[in-house]
Amino acid sequence: MIRTMPETVALTDAPAPFPIRVVGLAKSFDRLKVLKGISIDFPRGKTTVILGPSGCGKSVLLKHLVGLERPDRGEVWYENQRVDTLSEERLAPIRREFGFLFQNGALFDSMSVEDNVGFPLRELESSTPTSAYEHAQRVRRVLQMVGLEETAHKMPADLSGGQRKRIALARAIVLRPKVVLYDEPTTGLDPIRSDVINELIIKMKSALGATSIVVTHDLVSAFRVADHLVMMHEGEVMLEGAPDLFRDSTDPVVSRFLRGEASEEELRAIREASRHDGQRPQLSRVLPRNPSSAPPR
Ligand SMILES: Nc1ncnc2c1ncn2[C@@H]1O[C@H](COP(=O)(O)OP(=O)(O)OP(=O)(O)O)[C@@H](O)[C@H]1O
Ligand SMILES: [Mg+2]
Repeated sequence: MIRTMPETVALTDAPAPFPIRVVGLAKSFDRLKVLKGISIDFPRGKTTVILGPSGCGKSVLLKHLVGLERPDRGEVWYENQRVDTLSEERLAPIRREFGFLFQNGALFDSMSVEDNVGFPLRELESSTPTSAYEHAQRVRRVLQMVGLEETAHKMPADLSGGQRKRIALARAIVLRPKVVLYDEPTTGLDPIRSDVINELIIKMKSALGATSIVVTHDLVSAFRVADHLVMMHEGEVMLEGAPDLFRDSTDPVVSRFLRGEASEEELRAIREASRHDGQRPQLSRVLPRNPSSAPPR
């Protein structure tokens, strides 16, 4: 279903309840249809978690919010302004209102922690000069927020994976963003380090008053941080609402995803491939990119 923005929205001064809206967003790469006309309203000051199997288009969706991908069809709105059609130049100030923790957001290996975290400030320097003192203070403050002030002079190679994620998070918030996008913030971390990140996501929301969007397939993390949950499947939104709606869902695709179970069809494909090959199956060859929506038998 394609929704369009009501014309009156752009005429009012009151802050919209949904600072970010995507409307009928569609995106393909060659013949691969990744997003198939999805519409989501992201509530202000809340954390929306986007769940969904690998390859269903979660990262592609996040990139559309900041113009790193442009849709084939549909619209992206930020604070009553349509952003998907803006030039790079006009997007730049909007991007500064977003902090983006990228899925593989590596730190710059040749820079110390404080230089990594201060990088967005230096980039901004030409338009809004900050004093060296103010710059250092802001870096120190965000390092304090992620609990890693003592690492300021270390190099990324001297940190653990969890610490590097926290430093990347400090870098994402150093410009005091109004929106923070987290792409798989806990992937690759053990449960305790994951919980530290979850706590930080909750803390960032209250400290910055930011609207947060978290993409994850870590269910523990999803239910810890979410005010609002969206489940994507094969480029479409299949369920959206309060976390309880998901816990109580009887939909076979939702409940199978929440239980972490493959479908019968996927399991059969693997068993058959093993029988034919007489050897260990190559999962990437036999697993469909997205699980089937066929209910388990
Ligand atoms: N720039 C691109 N060019 C071509 N294909 C792309 C591009 N970006 C993403 N894709 C494809 O689009 C599909 C969705 O990718 P996306 O990264 O959004 O998945 P995801 O849901 O984030 O998965 P994961 O949970 O594994 O991170 C994948 O099949 C991916 O290969
Ligand atoms: Mg991804």
